[in-house]
Amino acid sequence: MKVLILGSGGREHALAWAVARSERVTEVVCAPGNGGIAQVARCVPVNLKDLDAMARLAKAEQPALTIVGPELPLSLGIVDTLQQHGRRVFGPTQGAAMLETSKGFAKRFLQRHNIPTAKYAVCATTAELERAVEVFHPPIVVKADGLAAGKGVIICTSRDTALEAAHGLFTGTLLGEAERQVVIEEFLEGDEVSFLCLSDGKHVTPLLPAQDHKRIGEGDTGPNTGGMGVYTTDGLLEPAMREWIVRHIAEPTVRGMAEEDTPFVGVLYVGLMMTARGPQVLEFNARFGDPETQAILPRLETDLVDALEACIDGRLSETALRWSPGASVCVVASSAGYPGGYKTGLPISGLGAATRVAGVQVFHAGTAQAGSQLVTAGGRVLGVTAIAESLEEALRRAYQALAEIEFEGIYYRRDIGHRALKTLRR
Ligand code: AMP
Ligand code: GLY
Repeated sequence: MKVLILGSGGREHALAWAVARSERVTEVVCAPGNGGIAQVARCVPVNLKDLDAMARLAKAEQPALTIVGPELPLSLGIVDTLQQHGRRVFGPTQGAAMLETSKGFAKRFLQRHNIPTAKYAVCATTAELERAVEVFHPPIVVKADGLAAGKGVIICTSRDTALEAAHGLFTGTLLGEAERQVVIEEFLEGDEVSFLCLSDGKHVTPLLPAQDHKRIGEGDTGPNTGGMGVYTTDGLLEPAMREWIVRHIAEPTVRGMAEEDTPFVGVLYVGLMMTARGPQVLEFNARFGDPETQAILPRLETDLVDALEACIDGRLSETALRWSPGASVCVVASSAGYPGGYKTGLPISGLGAATRVAGVQVFHAGTAQAGSQLVTAGGRVLGVTAIAESLEEALRRAYQALAEIEFEGIYYRRDIGHRALKTLRR
């Protein structure tokens, strides 16, 4: 069968790699793809903001299955559009994707269904905001309602700075676009966990939990990024805790969405804070995480295409996922200057030697082919993944591979997995 993947980052490279391993798959097409994806899939150009163009592409290619990677086309309703054209597509509809595309919707939904999350207020005017901040104790978390590529959350140490930040979101000075709603939230303390589940609209099957490192600097310092590295280990959450999260968070979410006539089919990414009073939902995403996917999929022993099709067909309860034991890590190599401005078009070398390290896969996030030379084409350039029997060994392999890779200004955090290592050494 032919599979079409929409997207162009490290997540889509990992998806294309996993799909290509399926015995049932004869061809993988990725739109628009990138320099690395071109090694496992045929890449074709498409504008991910243009629903008609994506529908035309699906008509021309006739894939048996389409997988949507990023949030942008989901937010525009690509799944609805392709379904209207009679196509089989993995991902939530525009209505179901609201769990990610509107934080106000997500918070109200969580409250309606008694799912644990931080105390909050959704404000549409400055007057509402001024009243709301009075009842929160600093630090106060201020969030843009809509998609903001990781830039929409501001943690404020006083009520005045919270008002200022919210004002910046309302007027558009902070994100470029004016927000109609702003969410004010209680500050939560604890370890963050990315808990991704497959959902067929009725049942959920959790993937391996992962821990992301969102800040650019070592020791979790500096500005937020799209994600600088991630790991999975068998010990990240105890089985009883995973079960609790499924029972009390993931299942009620999927049940609630079905009751409200927006059944959620796709990947439900639950961003959790593990607090002293238990796991609390920080956010939902309606898709595979990036770079979580690059660390999770290499440990999946089951056929990914079978699992995604089971979601579309409402057969997830009959599908069990098998994982390789041990650990995995994905360390992101970024361009100098990221998450601010950076140069592109810089030659990349050493990938051959890097991929010869045992257990290593290099997923491309922002690369392009310039003639015969692979060059940088984004802020996050590569995700170097390694799997092994232990986290220490996975890290050793990933950093050994990274030592082989060169491009001008290459930057990566050398402390990925530091929180888990601290616990292991205790
Ligand atoms: P979000 O997009 O809602 O996940 O927020 C991005 C990041 O902001 C999260 O990964 C957390 O690190 C941080 N964050 C969001 N909400 C809170 C909160 N209520 N308390 C503490 N940190 C938060
Ligand atoms: N790793 C964070 C995200 O995918 O949103």
